[in-house]
Amino acid sequence: MIILDCRASIDATSPIGRFDRRCYGQFIEHLGECIYGGIWVGEDSNIPNVRGYRLDVLDAVKQLNCPTVRWPGGNFASGYHWLDGIGPREKRPKRYDMAWGQDEPNTFGTDEFIDWCSLVGAEPWVVVNAGNGTPEEAAHWVEYCNSNRDTYYAQLRRQYGHVSPYRVKIWGVGNELYGRWQIGFCVDGVECARRTVEFANEMKTVDSEIRLIAVGCEDLEWNIAMVKNAGEYFDYLSIHIYIGGDKPYRELVAYSVDIERRLRNVYELIQDVRRKYNIKREIKLAFDEWNVWYSEAKPPLLRQITSVKDAVFTAGVLNSLHRLCNEVPIAAFAQTVNVIPLIVASDDGRMVLTPQYYVFKLYGESVGDYILPTVVDSQLYKSSELNRYIPFIDVSAMITEGGGTLYLYVVNRHETEYAYIQTTFKGFKPSKGGMKTVAGKSIEDRNTLENPHVVGIEEADIKIENNKVNLELKPHSVNVVKLQGETNT
Ligand code: AHR
Repeated sequence: MIILDCRASIDATSPIGRFDRRCYGQFIEHLGECIYGGIWVGEDSNIPNVRGYRLDVLDAVKQLNCPTVRWPGGNFASGYHWLDGIGPREKRPKRYDMAWGQDEPNTFGTDEFIDWCSLVGAEPWVVVNAGNGTPEEAAHWVEYCNSNRDTYYAQLRRQYGHVSPYRVKIWGVGNELYGRWQIGFCVDGVECARRTVEFANEMKTVDSEIRLIAVGCEDLEWNIAMVKNAGEYFDYLSIHIYIGGDKPYRELVAYSVDIERRLRNVYELIQDVRRKYNIKREIKLAFDEWNVWYSEAKPPLLRQITSVKDAVFTAGVLNSLHRLCNEVPIAAFAQTVNVIPLIVASDDGRMVLTPQYYVFKLYGESVGDYILPTVVDSQLYKSSELNRYIPFIDVSAMITEGGGTLYLYVVNRHETEYAYIQTTFKGFKPSKGGMKTVAGKSIEDRNTLENPHVVGIEEADIKIENNKVNLELKPHSVNVVKLQGETNT
């Protein structure tokens, strides 16, 4: 008996919005072995490297087609003084990092970050220190990165060998300033709004083209105060959501549905506050830290090795971000390497790519230009933690400019059952296609240093009959279907 017999319909005639690749962003922080050991090993290391950047990790990140990378933190950003990390490496000071209790050698700083971003093909995204730093220090950082003037910090950049400005466009103004764990935290949203205005004022005086991300959270009063008092000064409000991984499979994979609801709620609140206080500037969300976080991932290393079930959760979130293309155009997965990671890079030179990595790879190499509305008819199950019904099947869809290629992103959350899905289209006639899948054999399958190739990307055929696409999906699977065809409006 077929248990999961589903239908999906895709409307290619009325896109929801433009797809912004930046929702596939990554995040790296000076924490544990993310930067030192993961991104940077130094030119003298036995581990193969390019100018000190670890080569296997660099290639793996390059293959993600990653649009943006957020740096230097995280909590680390709130105590980081960027001047420590520029100039001759042997002269840079070693500092005590109060956020994570580690020694920071400052070997990897702004110039290394920008260089690494250009090697992996990503746009840099810098978070300034709005914890124990000053607006002036942040403005000087903008000058160092972006200015073409004949002034001190722009000259300093030239003196260190970087003639052309870096043109860093995305800047975060602080990190999690609502939290008592944060160096220089704010007592409430009013205080944070005031601080944000001061930072934005000075940073924008140096470069008016930059786009700013202010600190938000899921607290109504905080967000109201931020938008009311600082809404004309920033472009995105930041939201971080980590889901505790130590829960039953069905509960974990249900959480992407909850994340989608929560992000939409915050976005709608922002729009209500903008209307009420006549804030003219458009404000969207930056979902700039998200992941599953297992209890085993403790400071200082925050190590975990995720499995197929986390890949299913991750694809659910990416599908949600597709649907939220107008509300949440920019995001950053926490984190890329060694810290609650996509990529595990050990100090003996081995590397492991997690099933979550393969989801990002699959999605990153299969992008269109417009998100399409989808209607899915799927069986449901009850999530007791969320107290709501969750569809076993999640589908999002995208089409390229001109309509020649349509992508379906299909998640089968069921842990044991194959799913059979008949897909119909309005305004698109599929002629040929194929499917790529991340599923492993069980929800617990994972790649380890000893056994690195347990889970990967598999290819499968699909059936196209009478303009319908019939899919057979493995249990606990993430599937990307690429269809060639033509629009027929
Ligand atoms: O990603 C790890 C930490 O989690 C970040 O430093 C902080 O912003 C968050 O609480």
